[in-house]
Amino acid sequence: MSILFKGNGISEFEPYAKKAFNDKCKNINFYSNLNSINQKEIKYLITWNPEKNIIKKLPNLVAIFTLGAGVDSLGDIKKIPKNIKIIRLLDAGMAEPIANYVLAFTILFMNRIHLSFIDRYQKKWSPFVPFDINTMNIGVMGFGKIGEKVVRKLQKSKFNVIVWRKKRKKISGIETFFGKNSFQSFLKKINVIVNVLPLTEQNKFILNKDSFNNCNDGTFLINVARGEHIIDKDLINAINSKKISMAVLDVFNQEPLPKSHPFWKNERIIITPHSAAPTNIELACKQIIKNIKNIEKNISPLGLVNRSDGY
Ligand code: GLV
Repeated sequence: MSILFKGNGISEFEPYAKKAFNDKCKNINFYSNLNSINQKEIKYLITWNPEKNIIKKLPNLVAIFTLGAGVDSLGDIKKIPKNIKIIRLLDAGMAEPIANYVLAFTILFMNRIHLSFIDRYQKKWSPFVPFDINTMNIGVMGFGKIGEKVVRKLQKSKFNVIVWRKKRKKISGIETFFGKNSFQSFLKKINVIVNVLPLTEQNKFILNKDSFNNCNDGTFLINVARGEHIIDKDLINAINSKKISMAVLDVFNQEPLPKSHPFWKNERIIITPHSAAPTNIELACKQIIKNIKNIEKNISPLGLVNRSDGY
């Protein structure tokens, strides 16, 4: 059985992945280069941001594994032949650091520490009083493996959490809003927006002028999902109009964020370089190896993408 490990920005993980596959799988050929191999041999592709036509070069591909929770780096998944399974990572060590990231910034907002980040540039000494936790509502967009961890961690720290999700599925003990029609009502109830949605055609640019207009004044925004959930200029306008008091962004429409992008200069935007959840290659390989073994035994893999949902 042959595996190709190839994509943009993943070469640093290749030595570890190669060793893990050689140790844990019998009769395996692990490649990271298409040259000088028989492309017909490749059954599994492990990738992130692959080159455009790679799938066309692999006529006997059975499954594509993304080295991430999202599959958007594969481009339009509807164009991928239906017989090829698309599989994403489920948690694989990402949920905990993302939940920590969200908790840290939520506490920073509650204690209003973010204001001193801004005041220091004016050498302004202006003491602030923390918000009362009981007056705050944290709204989490998305309730997959990562969303759930975020919600549970916030709840453990005594935050009131409200969830907005696509599917009409109740979550015990949590006020939940479902579907597009309830999104604006959800925004009206919260002071902190936490976005952990997968990127789909339906939710692209969901945080736009209309959504920001429906936010409470001074809402705090944390985006650890995808840059394409936000219309950048609408966010800047929302900050200027004080609808959004501060935005913490780990993901961007274009990454790395271009040097000329206005976000860099905005003191009410905290930028982190897509680092809220670094890839845990050990856990990722473990999950992929298990999935490959299951596929070989005709057992459905975990993290199989439903093409109509887009994740
Ligand atoms: C990272 O952003 C991922 O999709 O895992």
